[in-house]
Amino acid sequence: ENDLIEHAKQVLRDNDRGTYTVPTHGLYPFQWNWDSALSALGFAHFDEARAWTEIDTLFENQWDDGMVPHIIFHQVDEGYFPGPDIWGTERPVPTSGITQPPVAGFAVRRMYDRATDKPLATARARALLPLIHAWHQWFYLNRDPQGTGLVAIIHPWETGRDNSVDWDVAFQRVPTEGVAPFTRRDTTHANPAHRPSDEQYKRYIWLVQKFRNLGWDNTKLHDASPFRVVDPGFNAILIRSCADLAELADELGEPTIAAQSRAMAQKGNAAMATLWSEEYGQYLCYDRISGTLIESPSVAGILAAFADIPPDKAAALTRRIESLAEACNYLVPSHDPRAAEFEGLRYWRGPVWLIVNYMIADGLKRAGKSEMVDRINADCVRLIHRSGFAEYYDPITAEPCGGAHFTWTAAMVIEILS
Ligand code: DGY
Repeated sequence: ENDLIEHAKQVLRDNDRGTYTVPTHGLYPFQWNWDSALSALGFAHFDEARAWTEIDTLFENQWDDGMVPHIIFHQVDEGYFPGPDIWGTERPVPTSGITQPPVAGFAVRRMYDRATDKPLATARARALLPLIHAWHQWFYLNRDPQGTGLVAIIHPWETGRDNSVDWDVAFQRVPTEGVAPFTRRDTTHANPAHRPSDEQYKRYIWLVQKFRNLGWDNTKLHDASPFRVVDPGFNAILIRSCADLAELADELGEPTIAAQSRAMAQKGNAAMATLWSEEYGQYLCYDRISGTLIESPSVAGILAAFADIPPDKAAALTRRIESLAEACNYLVPSHDPRAAEFEGLRYWRGPVWLIVNYMIADGLKRAGKSEMVDRINADCVRLIHRSGFAEYYDPITAEPCGGAHFTWTAAMVIEILS
């Protein structure tokens, strides 16, 4: 196990670009938002200052309206599409124009709680606190204009679960006409059978063009988007980060941020109940345009365990994972292997992701489900032993998929084994 930790540290060092980390060389040559926040947790085990810098760099690129973009293009790299010219956000350091799961609030609290260098942690957390809070407020203001307590994503890339089965129906409303011709780069670095389809890429780019034409004005984008989905996993991450930020704000003597964060978390937690499906035994996504729950048994509805859900729901999700375990060899598949749409190798249509396992396990641990936590963690370690530090894995064969030498996978291994 010590060997694994040393190996994982080496992956982090290899992907370190000084003030930020790339998810992996080649396929993702810039800084990604939630990758960075989760990878910082790995750095924190052996270089606390470097871990704080990872988060600082992310927030140095926060937009004036409070949004933290999903990609920061720190350097020129022709090996990635869509690059800064397609996004056209006109930022000092070019960024994308959409966001990603706001896991930074959770990560910063955890880093603060565990810090051995408390003066450093206090200074860095104090500086980050209002920035993270502004991002959380941005979400509820711009992505929940009706004040439901749940935010929508307006592009599949915002969830990180780019090609999930969850979007299949809602995504059909996104046209492909008028998309400027382009050449994908991802499929030159990774096996095309592990990646989204060309058809999906056209729709991804259609949305980017649409939002760009609206000047990336977030007061307009939500209502203008033909794709608006409420994702239980995404909302759980936001709710958890708000709750964690409230605790951190209490510690640091910031009562206003604490009270506002707690109120956002409470409202979100209450609203999560509307996404519960008794039939599926898990939470489901909600299509804000059709006004219906999306009947797709994906891991998003299990990742909901990351927020403080009621005990009966945590118990039901544990049973749901037990049932998934009967259909695969490695928990937790990103889609139910018994569903017709399941594809074991294709990105978010079936493969296991260690970061998702980590967040599910963290939530279940708080809910007292330690047996399942041990089982999920053991599966993570088995995957690494068999198939190395891959981006994701086939939940049946353990085949390593996507990029190799992957930063956040390595960070999660350090977290699990330390
Ligand atoms: C990609 O390029 O595959 C990313 O997931 C989009 O952020």
